[in-house]
Amino acid sequence: MEFKFSVNELFKQPIVELNQNLIPPGFSGDRRALWDTVNKVSEVINAMGEASAKAQGLSKPITTADRLRNSEHRLYLLVDQQANSGKGAVTGMLKTGSKGLYVFDREGQHYQVSPPCVLDFYVHDTRQRTGLGKRLFEHMLQKEGIEPVKMAIDRPSEKLLGFLNKHYGLHSPVKQMNNYVVYDGFFPKASDNNQQQEIERDQSPSGTRVTKKDSANGLQSFSSAYGRYGAPRPPCSMGQVLLH
Ligand code: COA
Repeated sequence: MEFKFSVNELFKQPIVELNQNLIPPGFSGDRRALWDTVNKVSEVINAMGEASAKAQGLSKPITTADRLRNSEHRLYLLVDQQANSGKGAVTGMLKTGSKGLYVFDREGQHYQVSPPCVLDFYVHDTRQRTGLGKRLFEHMLQKEGIEPVKMAIDRPSEKLLGFLNKHYGLHSPVKQMNNYVVYDGFFPKASDNNQQQEIERDQSPSGTRVTKKDSANGLQSFSSAYGRYGAPRPPCSMGQVLLH
């Protein structure tokens, strides 16, 4: 996506990370320059957000400068520095952030987690299927120190499901009621849970057994071992219906 101003002057690297202050890395200048820069960055974000929404058939963008400003999300922009006669063009956008979610595994077991999420992902229509998405996604994984299987994906399109399958071998998504998708490796393994619970049972000085399970992705799921939620129960059939 091209702009009337020089993208290369705004963004000095091929992939830039933005947060709520909307100031690109490497910015230097006075207040007036800052104001001008933030305005241009906002224009880029809004244009890419709109294009992404259109590509996904959404009625309104999920990524805007205002929303980024009021969040703790991270936005990665991919820049083609050679495009537009050397002025540069923005070719991709990936937004991530943590969300508090209830997720169900295939057995209907529920977890309360705050995983890192893929919230929006877009490669310019003229550049899709040329490896740019992979490049941007890999950069994000490295920066955030996370594996794709440990992330929750918000409303993934068929293209994104195909992308995750092709590049990361992720298949059979576990679809959630909240429109997020996770994969089997997202959940702690049953053996991890049992082991963790055994340790906590041994260490617990009192009878209050509220277990805190560290899941494989470093996230925590909480479940009370006593009371209403602690009683053994069959797999939740509603969960199973919705997930299969
Ligand atoms: N149809 C089906 N699969 C597609 C696809 C399409 N039009 N475009 C990309 N993919 C998947 C395929 O698995 C493809 O591999 P293939 O070409 O061998 O079939 C793979 O992604 C290509 O990888 P890569 O070139 O690195 O991805 P990309 O640059 O196309 O970026 C998306 C992937 C999803 C970001 C991009 O396709 C896009 O912006 N789509 C529109 C917006 C969207 O759906 N975003 C996700 C919303 S959550």
